[in-house]
Amino acid sequence: MADGDERQWALILGASSGFGEAAARDLARRGFDICGVHLDRRAGMAHVSEITAAIEAEGRTALFFNTNAADHEKRRRVLDALAARIAEDGGGRVRVLMHSLAFGSLTPLVSGEPSQWATPAQLEMTLNVMAHSLVYWVQDAVARSLLTTGSRVLAMTSAGSTRVLPGYGAVSAAKAALEAHVRQLAVELGGGGVTVNALRAGVTDTPAFRKIPGSEWMAEQVTQRNPSGRMTTTDDVARVVGLLATDEAQWITGTVLEINGGEDLVV
Ligand SMILES: NC(=O)c1ccc[n+]([C@@H]2O[C@H](COP(=O)([O-])OP(=O)(O)OC[C@H]3O[C@@H](n4cnc5c(N)ncnc54)[C@H](O)[C@@H]3O)[C@@H](O)[C@H]2O)c1
Repeated sequence: MADGDERQWALILGASSGFGEAAARDLARRGFDICGVHLDRRAGMAHVSEITAAIEAEGRTALFFNTNAADHEKRRRVLDALAARIAEDGGGRVRVLMHSLAFGSLTPLVSGEPSQWATPAQLEMTLNVMAHSLVYWVQDAVARSLLTTGSRVLAMTSAGSTRVLPGYGAVSAAKAALEAHVRQLAVELGGGGVTVNALRAGVTDTPAFRKIPGSEWMAEQVTQRNPSGRMTTTDDVARVVGLLATDEAQWITGTVLEINGGEDLVV
């Protein structure tokens, strides 16, 4: 664990699956307490219990909230609870704030049947959950002095920020906006020693990926293209989150890091 004896929390948005889950498990092994936010129905809660048990088996705290991360009031309640817990413990801070929310509309913008086109509500919801919520979480964490020198803000982006995929128009827009937010936040928080980066993961088999139209075809393509002959895994990304959480990564900020094993090097 970095920084002496102070308790280090990782606040992970999207902690019950995919990259967020893998990072929660990995960071707990590295000595972090985990505050996880996720949105699951009752059927998904057994899996959430497995994750919190794994964190606790590492001797760390798991403070999890099944709540909508895009709701302003619920976000404030989570951050108040985390701040109260840190005060009760006699200190600590959020060393890692990871944004890994997958909740977007996968409808075409203008191809096919007009009844299938993305609506204003779908576009707004996708941009709000997958991009703007990063800003609101950071604002409220800063307002509570939870992010301090050496804290890391990490946001999951994808090749969709610069590329076109069928049905991915709304999410593409969200990813482009998310990367813009990362640059702006990196500058505005730079003076306080908080670093902000986007992690552009390669194609990874997760529940969110399987919902993308043509995901099976995409999985075959990237497996063939990738120099290692396989897709990216959630653990590949979790290990990079762990690396960026170290003191040595302090000078990396405002960037989009490709974590894809070279998936895009060959056409
Ligand atoms: N899977 C890929 O190939 C890939 C590649 C690059 C980037 N990404 C990005 O990584 C991020 C995570 O994706 P994933 O593949 O791990 O998805 P996933 O479906 O495995 O996990 C998504 C998580 O977000 C949570 N969530 C969704 N909406 C929420 C809300 N409103 N409030 C609270 N929690 C909510 C879910 O409960 C879950 O924990 C997304 O931003 C995605 O675009 C995915």
